[in-house]
Amino acid sequence: MTKRAAESVGRDLPVITIFAPAKVNLILRVLDRRPDGYHNLWSIMQTVGLEDEVSIRVALHRSEIQLGCDDSSLRTDPSNLVYRAAAAVLEQSGKSVGLEIHLTKRIPMGAGLGGGSSDAAATIIGLNQVLQLGWSSARMAEVGQALGSDVPFFLYAPAAIVAGRGEKVRPIQLTGGRWLVLVNPGFPVETKWAYQQLSMTRKELEPLSERLRRLEASSQIAWSEVVELAGNDFESPVFSAYPALREIKEELLAEGADIALLSGSGATVFGVFRDEAGAQKAASCFQDRTEFKAFAVRACTGPVAQR
Ligand code: C5P
Repeated sequence: MTKRAAESVGRDLPVITIFAPAKVNLILRVLDRRPDGYHNLWSIMQTVGLEDEVSIRVALHRSEIQLGCDDSSLRTDPSNLVYRAAAAVLEQSGKSVGLEIHLTKRIPMGAGLGGGSSDAAATIIGLNQVLQLGWSSARMAEVGQALGSDVPFFLYAPAAIVAGRGEKVRPIQLTGGRWLVLVNPGFPVETKWAYQQLSMTRKELEPLSERLRRLEASSQIAWSEVVELAGNDFESPVFSAYPALREIKEELLAEGADIALLSGSGATVFGVFRDEAGAQKAASCFQDRTEFKAFAVRACTGPVAQR
């Protein structure tokens, strides 16, 4: 736990810290629009070693939720996803206790990396543990689903095939291991806007390929196969509006990435590398661009958890 987190939540009291990883979409197909206004998706999602931290302490002497964050640009009022996750768990478990929560942000926001959703999932996982609720992943995902489309995935991390609005999650194991370089350009892309752009610019909806359908039956998929099938439907509309993102993709490929892709609806672009040395070298190429943030990280192999 960071020093600031310790000061905020009380040094001498038991605090649990859950590490909340970022995600990338290795494959992201956006399918038909549903009657509820959302789109059906088909995605392979994978968590990566760039993490926020959610520290939680149960305060028996109080009954309210207190949220603090090291990033002053993030609101910590009841609109915050962590606050909402905590409130939902208390309501659905019928527990009436106070909570002191501190969030340490490292994952860029509005970045297509699922940071807010991961923080919400980490809050649910942490409270399930500390309040000894005994909830299954499915029960936690049910609570998480109401908070955001990406939240259920994090309850089945590190890798899963995600469908529906984001609520149908089937955990998979990606075999082989890879390093990734995440390049965030320093500006956000709004998810809702990206969906609108895609709907407006797409002439016809390409159905899900047979090869992707066949993956649904597999519980183990090789990284090399996913790399062959990688793609993101948001690239065309988002790159048209933000050509700088296409340039990042080209630079990552020129630096030796096996593939480079927009994550989610952006703005982060990531490259997949076979080893750490290649990833570190590629990340260092973006260091001079002060508005950019580049991270060389490993693909996660374990669930969202306390460490
Ligand atoms: O659920 P979440 O807050 O992540 O979604 C943000 C916006 O993205 C939604 O309001 C919706 O416009 C769009 N969306 C969608 N289909 C999805 C997920 C999100 O149309 N499966």
